Amino acid sequence: MTNGHSAVVTGLGAWLPPRIVSNDELSERLDTSDEWIRTRTGIRERRIADPDTSTVDMAVHAGGNALRSAGSDVVDALVLATATPDHLCPASAPQVAAALGLSGIPAFDVNAVCSGFVYALATAGGLIAGGTAERVLVIGADAFSRYCDPADRSTVPIFGDGAGAVVLRAGSAEEPGALGPFDLHSQGELADLLIVPAGGAKRRASDDPHDHYVTMQGTTVFRHACARMAESAKAVLERAGLEVGEVDRFVGHQANLRILLATAKQLGLPEERVVVNIGHTGNTSAASIPLALADACADGSLLPGHRVLLTAFGAGLTWGSTVLTWPDVKPGQAD
Ligand code: COA
Repeated sequence: MTNGHSAVVTGLGAWLPPRIVSNDELSERLDTSDEWIRTRTGIRERRIADPDTSTVDMAVHAGGNALRSAGSDVVDALVLATATPDHLCPASAPQVAAALGLSGIPAFDVNAVCSGFVYALATAGGLIAGGTAERVLVIGADAFSRYCDPADRSTVPIFGDGAGAVVLRAGSAEEPGALGPFDLHSQGELADLLIVPAGGAKRRASDDPHDHYVTMQGTTVFRHACARMAESAKAVLERAGLEVGEVDRFVGHQANLRILLATAKQLGLPEERVVVNIGHTGNTSAASIPLALADACADGSLLPGHRVLLTAFGAGLTWGSTVLTWPDVKPGQAD
């Protein structure tokens, strides 16, 4: 029975591949150093999926953990945020659903790259608001290590692999966990700033692997990220009728510690309210916000009742935000 049209967080799950790659390990094969990576990005290490572990596999682990956290494996839709699906065609979400024993439910991918999780939350919220679904599993999973040129010091140190997920259920807007308003944007004229050039309908797959690696104009992306994340955070707070001072935790997309701190500074938000886990994850793209939520719950820095601001920015360009009061939900774990 539908008891409301707001989407309420009722489960949380995360999964990281076991293999840890430290900055020192990267420095052995790239012209870089632990000192440069740490001071320019805040990253100490990242997790890299082994060749047998795909985006679908990571999504299944995180999704299963979120269902355990929710205390029920009943969901009637699955939305997977990813820019690194197992195949260009078909989408990965149906395979994730099937592996979780959910074959038959609607399941589809959302690609807004590093903003994907916020976009997927909005999409799932729409399914609930329209009465199409009452419980939705929303997963963010990416394996950008697969798209990095192993010789490119401007991308390899930045990206890590992983997956995170939440379960949303229909409920009331006044409940803890209810997603507030959204602020979502895109700017496609800046698509070239972070792009995998070939392998799509615009430019077919080529024999040159360089055509299939992610390329990034880092400094320009950095500037856009700082400006757009602060704008979006302000816009969503205004829409929700909240002041910056009422935000207890800022959970921003973990692309670079300096982007998170610059955004917080522009907002006038004290640093201690900024959730940071990039040090051990790197930039996990669509997985980064649920992974940060799970880490903050696990270390006790995110507590039930905290007002949380979620803000993401990614290739596309895309960006967006939402707000919620954190419910009494902890990350689920496999036995
Ligand atoms: N190790 C050592 N030196 C490096 C390096 C590395 N891994 N990568 C770049 N450098 C060098 C550059 O060659 C440059 O040298 P130069 O001054 O002699 O030309 C210098 O360091 C500064 O490079 P620059 O690219 O200007 O650094 P930056 O301060 O912009 O930091 C990023 C680079 C990638 C960390 C930063 O731009 C960034 O985080 N961008 C946003 C990335 C992002 O968010 N991507 C995903 C979007 S969601």
